[in-house]
Amino acid sequence: MRLVLLMQYVCPVIVVIVASGGAFLWPVALRLWRLSQTLVPLDSKDSDALRIGILGASFIARAAVVSAADKRKDIVVSAVAARDTQRAKNYAAQYDIPAFHGGPHAYSSLLARDDVDAVYIGLPTALHLEWAIAAMRAGKDVLLEKPAVLNANEASELAQEAKRTGRMVFEAGHYRYHPAAKRAKQLMSLNILDGGVAPLRSVEVRFSMLDPKAWLRRMWSLVSSDDSMRPDERLAERVKNFDRWWYCVDMLLWSTGAFDAHVVSANESRFSLAATLELYLYPSLVVNVSMSMARDSLLDPFTWSVSALGQTSDGQASLKLHNFGFPFLWHRLDWKSLDVAHSEQLYGFGETTFEHQLGSFREALQSGDRQEDAILLTMRTVDRILEVAGHGAFPSKEVVHHQ
Ligand SMILES: *[C@@H]1O[C@H](CO)[C@@H](O)[C@H](O)[C@H]1NC(C)=O
Ligand SMILES: *[C@@H]1O[C@H](CO)[C@@H](O)[C@H](O)[C@H]1NC(C)=O
Repeated sequence: MRLVLLMQYVCPVIVVIVASGGAFLWPVALRLWRLSQTLVPLDSKDSDALRIGILGASFIARAAVVSAADKRKDIVVSAVAARDTQRAKNYAAQYDIPAFHGGPHAYSSLLARDDVDAVYIGLPTALHLEWAIAAMRAGKDVLLEKPAVLNANEASELAQEAKRTGRMVFEAGHYRYHPAAKRAKQLMSLNILDGGVAPLRSVEVRFSMLDPKAWLRRMWSLVSSDDSMRPDERLAERVKNFDRWWYCVDMLLWSTGAFDAHVVSANESRFSLAATLELYLYPSLVVNVSMSMARDSLLDPFTWSVSALGQTSDGQASLKLHNFGFPFLWHRLDWKSLDVAHSEQLYGFGETTFEHQLGSFREALQSGDRQEDAILLTMRTVDRILEVAGHGAFPSKEVVHHQ
């Protein structure tokens, strides 16, 4: 019986994936092909380029900082630190980084350098707060990998320390800095009469990214009816859910410019999360929101979307941004305002979201445009959702212990 169920589920899904995957992958392959490959050599960087040090010789640091900085004149990576000395050394050699630090004091040694203006922290989330604080105390601004911290308490500690030291924390929500996301945000704040979508009535954010292991586990529990989990397994799944769930909350709050959110309902299961919220927008607008995240859905293996509906007495409007996560590979922004339909793709010169992010980080350091309050609101909202879902927010220590 269960096996029949499984086959009924799997066969149509394989057909759908092959068909939609084919349609989706071609444009992605073409864009990858066209991504600019022009690198700026170290000796041609601007003399006042922002000098970044990297904590953690990770894969994500390569995508988020090393490769992006290679294409910009105004950013240079001056040092990398990793606990494992050999790893730090190899990383520096492989990516042409002039200095490296290894061993138990690697991170502190990098923070003590005079030729580092700002640091990128791509360590596990549970270590972010400790090292962001250490960096700010050492006089460095911080580009902090997302999610910036684990819970609202940590977010307020981070904000306090930023205020005390006068340093900046900039969250690496790279997709926000892409022209497609900025355009969607602009349309969501622009009145329907001016061709936009505001005032909003409802917003939906969906994030589903198939995690094959999660899918197999779910299939297995369907066949064997065994879904028992050890406490450490449960925590590991929650950390992964959190990593992805965070995108939904961040995109929602950022794109609408909300100043607060009330959680109406929330449900967290092993590989998914769903919630409905009421969002408060200035001056007095309450917007209904639904959000969902799934790691185990073969039917919807790859969706990052934000949609919005607006209404005035004059008429309706709607908007949908497809693939907000990696818009430089492919995206489409569709909107309809007062019966006029539009569709846009904003690739610019093909810059990646990470290149845009480094540029925005540098601009924020110059303009003093701070993000700590936004980080705090996002984490408060995440905490409330997890509490309503019945499992509670993340206790910092427990996660550190298990990571
Ligand atoms: C939001 O949802 C509530 C409950 O479903 C409904 O009563 C209210 O009219 C909705 N608000 C908007 C702006 O659609
Ligand atoms: C929560 O999600 C699980 C799994 O998807 C589902 O079985 C359950 O009915 C949901 N609970 C609520 C209250 O929505």
